[in-house]
Amino acid sequence: MQDGHNRRMLRAGVGRAIAAVLCAGCLMAQPSAAPSSPAAVPAANLNQLMRVLFFPLSNVVFFPQRYNPAEVKPAAEPSGSTDPLTGVFGGWEAVENSALTLVDSADLLMTPGRKCSNGRDVPLANADWVQMVKGLRDAGTFAYKAALTKDQDRMLGAAEVLAASCANCHNKYRPGNVANRCR
Ligand code: HEC
Repeated sequence: MQDGHNRRMLRAGVGRAIAAVLCAGCLMAQPSAAPSSPAAVPAANLNQLMRVLFFPLSNVVFFPQRYNPAEVKPAAEPSGSTDPLTGVFGGWEAVENSALTLVDSADLLMTPGRKCSNGRDVPLANADWVQMVKGLRDAGTFAYKAALTKDQDRMLGAAEVLAASCANCHNKYRPGNVANRCR
């Protein structure tokens, strides 16, 4: 009984291996049928990312400039809060995690294929773009370290560095005239 079971498992395993080899061929023949990685084609344009990710995350990091995260009153229903600061993982933890997520999210500014709202490609090939993305990453790391100290004075400095990293890029790549963005 057990042996039969094992043999069936073995046969199933071999079957899978053959299917995998065959499939490699059929994927090449029909690329459109291939399940592509979800990250392969960026879904959001740059402006959408900025509005929903970089803007709200940085607001959490900016919060301790004026208020003490340790004194934030949790939302009436913390598990449903749309504000990280008043949610289940709120207070200073929200500041720390927002800073870290800004660091990781900087990679999304380097995703090939992403467009700006005016249809231009995000200017990944420009050396200063790459530098400014790195500036954002560094600012996020700096803010994370400051948040760990729970020292609001340090957060003032970190907020300045972060705001400067946003402004550096906006000054060049986000002019008032939308048609001139990302060039
Ligand atoms: C490497 C460049 C770069 C960095 C760094 C950057 N941005 Fe942006 N941001 C842009 C560009 C370019 C646009 C315009 C995008 C478009 O129109 O598609 C933009 C747009 C925005 C918008 C939307 C403005 C609007 O008109 O709707 C917000 C909000 C924003 N950024 C916030 C931030 C914040 C906050 C930071 C820092 C934490 C930041 N950005 C860092 C390049 C950058």
